[in-house]
Amino acid sequence: MNIQEIIAKKRDGKELNKEEINYFVSKYTDGAITDYQAAALIMAIYINGMNKEEITNLTLEMANSGDILDLSEISKNVIDKHSTGGVGDKITLVLTPIIASLGIPVAKMSGRGLGFTGGTVDKLESIPGYKTDIQIGDFIDNVKKIGISLIGQTANLAPADKKIYALRDAINCVESMPLIASSIMSKKIAAGANKIVLDVTVGSGAFMKNKEDAIKLSNMMKEIGKLADRETVCVLTNMNEPVGYAIGNTLEIIETIECLKGNIPEDIKEIITTIGAYIIKLSGENDNLEENKKMILDNIENGKAYNKFLELVKNQSGDIEYIENPEKFEKAKYIMPVITEKDGFIQELNAEKIGKISVMLGAGRIKKEDNIDKAVGIILNKKISDKVQRGDILAYVHADDEQKGKEAVEKIKEIYKVSEMKIEKEKIILGVI
Ligand code: URA
Repeated sequence: MNIQEIIAKKRDGKELNKEEINYFVSKYTDGAITDYQAAALIMAIYINGMNKEEITNLTLEMANSGDILDLSEISKNVIDKHSTGGVGDKITLVLTPIIASLGIPVAKMSGRGLGFTGGTVDKLESIPGYKTDIQIGDFIDNVKKIGISLIGQTANLAPADKKIYALRDAINCVESMPLIASSIMSKKIAAGANKIVLDVTVGSGAFMKNKEDAIKLSNMMKEIGKLADRETVCVLTNMNEPVGYAIGNTLEIIETIECLKGNIPEDIKEIITTIGAYIIKLSGENDNLEENKKMILDNIENGKAYNKFLELVKNQSGDIEYIENPEKFEKAKYIMPVITEKDGFIQELNAEKIGKISVMLGAGRIKKEDNIDKAVGIILNKKISDKVQRGDILAYVHADDEQKGKEAVEKIKEIYKVSEMKIEKEKIILGVI
């Protein structure tokens, strides 16, 4: 067996067997297969797809490429949560401290920015000192000690996904159902939680652009979860416009702090209460979803969730001075308003296009080695259905490069579509599978 034959098989639309998938995953993880060979195979998978058996084999091989944790000593039910990706998606950052503050252990391994979407790890690393690359023993100890740990893929958990994830990003092969399902589920299986809630995003700012594809992806991930004995629930959420108001790493941490202090935009509130209610249900604490939603909001109001976030940051060596005084975060050099010349109602705010502008400003990576600029991004001032008048500020661009900032302002003006007719807000929760 060799990699050229495997590439040719997939290039020609044929099915890969378990041995071939194992060969690729193990040899790419240990460096015997080069990035350019892996890129060719990933592109062939992107174009020709994979059947269920191939996806399951790929997921399990990726999960087995490193350690598989057993968290059963922590609690009967340990919960993990993951999003299929989005723009302005800070749901993990807001929700996981709330869940931990309710006494439900959270052990979560997150990813970096991918394509036009942001990544929780990049956002966490904009808190000075916060360590995402901790040892597995410390990850488990943290969950035992304070009930929560949020880490990156630097521990030896699903290392194959770490390499393939970065490669997919660099070669524009992110939006592929088999590659998304195997990426997410390999990480979730390796990280050891036995209950998984997935936020499957749908719309312009998601990798699944329509509900049918999101349902297909959800069913695929649920099936893999079942095979690996992990109960999995998928919540379909609307990603036609960015989530909340902030896009960019530091800017989203600041919005997270505000949410945990109770200043929470409606869309974020709906997503965290719905996903959170299922997490509480899966944990075995309470089956009543409405009561669970209330518990979530109560723990924001009584400050327990915010305090848990402080504890999390401190426990992972982050400087909590920044959390307590967000004005300490370094700001971008230029903050430029985007001003509308129209009267009417916001009809469209394409999240993918906004995400791409954020990447162009430096908040995401073009090449996998790129460093990100933590301070840059976009703060929205108007969202879909909002009324606007000529001269109103639609958004603020936070840029470190003046030219890029000006370009972003012009592009964002184009992205906001204004209608003369009143526009209804879109539904946020699109289904639960
Ligand atoms: N999140 C992941 O971890 N992987 C993907 O492929 C997409 C979103």
